[in-house]
Amino acid sequence: SDERLRRVRDRVRPFPDFPEPGVLFRDISPLLKDPVAFRTLIDLLEDHLRSSFPKIDFIAGLDSRGFLIGPPLAQRLGIGFVPVRKKGKLPGPTESVCYTLEYGKAELEMQKDAVEPGQKVVIVDDLLATGGTMAAACELLKRLKAEILECLVVIELKGLKGSGKLNSIPFYSLLQYD
Ligand code: PRP
Ligand code: HPA
Repeated sequence: SDERLRRVRDRVRPFPDFPEPGVLFRDISPLLKDPVAFRTLIDLLEDHLRSSFPKIDFIAGLDSRGFLIGPPLAQRLGIGFVPVRKKGKLPGPTESVCYTLEYGKAELEMQKDAVEPGQKVVIVDDLLATGGTMAAACELLKRLKAEILECLVVIELKGLKGSGKLNSIPFYSLLQYD
């Protein structure tokens, strides 16, 4: 599995000074472009979830890059996918939560009937930085009374200590960067 992890890690490209000076942006485009690496990524995430949880009802994916990882993973597990969207995109009754970004504010939203109370959900995104986005998604799923089994990301930017924002919710990252 070290070999598989290396194959994935090799396809994450660092971009200095994007989207602004001082930020080292971790770009997953090469990972998505390489079918072997992309499949290996989903294999690793599938193995992790199968060995951790006997039953998962849904994968919840975060707008927008969680939409690239979540659906193939849900298909592998034979379960459904529910989107957690940026505000204003979903019809019908919704629940929404504000969160702070490095610059400014944003809002995440889910349809109220996305999950039933007590259903077991894993929340998926490409990357955890400050943890603000993931923490907001957790708040939303708690409002819907879901049981959050885990927050799962491909990449964790360790230096920003974002996992600390998730309090007692289990967190897993495949790759870590300082
Ligand atoms: C990025 C990334 C995560 C989030 C992580 O998404 O895909 O969702 O930021 O940052 P945080 O841990 O500091 O909250 P972004 O908000 O750039 O939106 P996008 O996926 O639509 O590009
Ligand atoms: N890479 C990709 N997405 C991000 C990053 C990053 O370094 N920081 C916040 N979102």
